[in-house]
Amino acid sequence: MNILFVASECAPFIKTGGLADVIGAVPKALKPLGGNVRILLPAYPALSGEVAKGTEVAAFDDLHGGPARVMAVTARGLDLLLLDAPHLFDRPGNIYLDHAGGDWHDNHLRFGALSFVGAQIALGLIPDWQPDLVNAHDWQAGLVPAYLHAAGSQVPTVMTIHNIAFQGIYDPDHLDGLNLPRDMFTVDKGEYYGRFSFLKAGLMLATKITTVSPTYAHELMSPEFGMGLDGVMRARRADLSGIINGIDLDVWDPETDDTIPQVFTAKTLTKKAKNKAALEERFNLDPSDSPIFCIISRLTTQKGLDLLLDRLPNIVNQGARLAILGTGDKGMEHGFADAANRYTGKVGTIIGYDEQLSHLMQAGSDAILIPSRFEPCGLTQLYGLRYGTIPVVARTGGLADTIIDANLAAIDADVATGIQFHPVTAIGLEQAVARTMALYQQPKVWAAMQRRAMRQPVGWDASAAAYLALFQSLTD
Ligand code: ADP
Ligand code: GLC
Repeated sequence: MNILFVASECAPFIKTGGLADVIGAVPKALKPLGGNVRILLPAYPALSGEVAKGTEVAAFDDLHGGPARVMAVTARGLDLLLLDAPHLFDRPGNIYLDHAGGDWHDNHLRFGALSFVGAQIALGLIPDWQPDLVNAHDWQAGLVPAYLHAAGSQVPTVMTIHNIAFQGIYDPDHLDGLNLPRDMFTVDKGEYYGRFSFLKAGLMLATKITTVSPTYAHELMSPEFGMGLDGVMRARRADLSGIINGIDLDVWDPETDDTIPQVFTAKTLTKKAKNKAALEERFNLDPSDSPIFCIISRLTTQKGLDLLLDRLPNIVNQGARLAILGTGDKGMEHGFADAANRYTGKVGTIIGYDEQLSHLMQAGSDAILIPSRFEPCGLTQLYGLRYGTIPVVARTGGLADTIIDANLAAIDADVATGIQFHPVTAIGLEQAVARTMALYQQPKVWAAMQRRAMRQPVGWDASAAAYLALFQSLTD
């Protein structure tokens, strides 16, 4: 089966969050099952080396304001189709944001072009490769089903929601230049309270909709989590499913990870200590017996890290040490930097984005804190499980689906893999840390939980099979 992925990020080439990890991993898991995926991705500067190695398979004289071509290249085991359109994608800095931190003024044209070319490929643009279906990811690919609909195409489409908070909403005049018929601006398609939404158009017009965990699929139908699209999700309930994300075990495996000082397995857990020592040094933490809780995250209200800032003094007073890596909200960046100054040796903060350091943190920490207000799936708790770093998580979305809370019954039954808390409040978080500290004081219980966590099946096998079954149901 030939499957076209359309997405705005793909690890290891270009990544701002979990979307990239997923796009970079699923095709590798689908291949042995007979799913032949090509990924259409914008040729940002980070991909210029791959573009140079590629073969031109299509060209446009004028794609939303300039010439463009599609370059095919296989790199790091992935078959890429790179949309080389310098007027849209050849710019330095963040792929979504300009230098002032606002959205690029022409994001609708940039990702409209990506979606348009995705639809053209489905319609037969590339001579030797006809997709049987298109899987469009997040709002940046939301117009794929719209362009296909406008062309009267029967090629099935799956719209995958990684995060419904981002919807691609524009004033109707932004439709000019996107080459879409006026009837796209109706309530049964992309019209959204007088504006136009890329994601809504995709959700209304895709054949099927998936999201990245069963709990989030359910939550999306409620006003609290649907972010204004809960009505759409309820209307399309019969076509909606949640398939939990996995992780790429070629990249995230403590037994083979060549980025960390000391590899280890569930049987050689004590070796984790060497990574912990390296982590202490990196974050300027005083060596001690107390557990290190790490945070590896975008610093946003979604991630609930304002709750952590709120209770940080009490959490440190409980004896916890914190190692924080993240970027995002300036107020939170300052808050965590201040905390590191105030609690020298107990709190370490690194503001920035550092893939390799994130591996050391998973390898050397005792626990990972994820107090998200909503979390479609979340990947860092899965990396935590794999590295024996106990996830302490809010009970929402994919966090609820992947972690089993260490209540007394779960400990007795030998199934606990982490700590969950609910409601997601500052006090709830503080109490969850207290529960974690108490478990940590019981070395046998803690080590058993770590080993159990490491044995969880967090790879892509089961979920890749679920995607393939869905795709097959659309193409048979
Ligand atoms: P989201 O996609 O909402 O940001 P996920 O948990 O799905 O959340 O994925 C986040 C991904 O980004 C993980 O691979 C995580 O390790 C990585 N990440 C987040 N912040 C940083 C950072 N500051 N440095 C390195 N990696 C980070
Ligand atoms: C989004 C979500 C995150 C999810 C990721 C990959 O960024 O916020 O929860 O894990 O997409 O699907």
